[in-house]
Amino acid sequence: MNILAFESSCDETAVAVVRDGRTVLSDAILSQADMHALYGGVVPEIASRKHVEAIAGLTDQALSDAGLTKSDVDAVAVTYAPGLIGAVLVGVSFAKSVAYALDVPLIPVHHVRGHIAANYLAFPELEPPFLALAISGGNTLIVDVRDYTDMAILGATRDDAAGECFDKAARVLGLPYPGGKPMDALAQQSPGGKYTLPRVHVEGAELDMSFSGLKTAVVNLAHNAQQKGEPLDAAALARDFTQAVSDELVPRAMEAARRTGRRTIVAAGGVAANSIIRGDLERACRQAGCRLYLPPLRLCGDNGAMIGAQGYYEYLAGHTADLSLNAYATRDL
Ligand code: KG4
Repeated sequence: MNILAFESSCDETAVAVVRDGRTVLSDAILSQADMHALYGGVVPEIASRKHVEAIAGLTDQALSDAGLTKSDVDAVAVTYAPGLIGAVLVGVSFAKSVAYALDVPLIPVHHVRGHIAANYLAFPELEPPFLALAISGGNTLIVDVRDYTDMAILGATRDDAAGECFDKAARVLGLPYPGGKPMDALAQQSPGGKYTLPRVHVEGAELDMSFSGLKTAVVNLAHNAQQKGEPLDAAALARDFTQAVSDELVPRAMEAARRTGRRTIVAAGGVAANSIIRGDLERACRQAGCRLYLPPLRLCGDNGAMIGAQGYYEYLAGHTADLSLNAYATRDL
């Protein structure tokens, strides 16, 4: 089954063709990051407009890269939530029109489910049940993936997402948007251990997380240093900050595995590209005797193929939509 998949929830316009949920035939992506970097973060209206400009051309490219024509498309999948509403709406509207024109099923896909499903593309043997740590620019969740379309959230951030925290901290350190990748590179230049940053405990909800205090702590450290004219060791701060994020995520993922008895842990989302978090997850899983799946870097960030992968399983579960499908800024997993 060839699924033509659309992703436009933030600042990547992506169109892919995925066969039977596991094989990527094409994966066309146009990132707008350079454009938003001028403003230090994503400007929603610009994102929507850029999606409108790019989506038709990328669709042609995805079909041609796959060596297919429109008549080879068996279904259309699209991210319908969560994300920047105007941005998501572009993908949903376009996907609806394509599904209507081709007279094929329309499959709505939750963006975070897509991130998790990116792992099906890299690891043919991977099947639920497993535990997923979904960490991206907009979402930070610990998810019990009982089956391909049956998931329960075990822990979530109470405020900012991990990626958002990376981007804001990076901005304070003068790094370009999106800040996660340059923070990663900077952090590798220092052993850290210089700055004390907060670790959060959510009373009564031990698997929940919080990143806003950490973000504020980094902002305050940088501002105080600037006001006092003291030098800031940016590499050490990047290292200590990343360790604080990792300490928020990794022990909770392991605790969730312990509570559920899951022996397989899967990482997903843009922040799963972080080298320190990957290393900490590897160590923790080795110690706990858990199997760990870390997606290749190209599948961590937003892409269309992950939507095509999850779309296949949503289709098998009968989760299709009619043309009244809407876009949502937030939606339960
Ligand atoms: O999954 P993604 O592309 O978009 C969302 O679905 O949100 O994630 C983007 C986020 C950004 O916040 C970016 O700074 C972060 O992932 N990111 C990283 C790294 N690479 C990207 N964060 C930490 N370390 C990285 N190496």
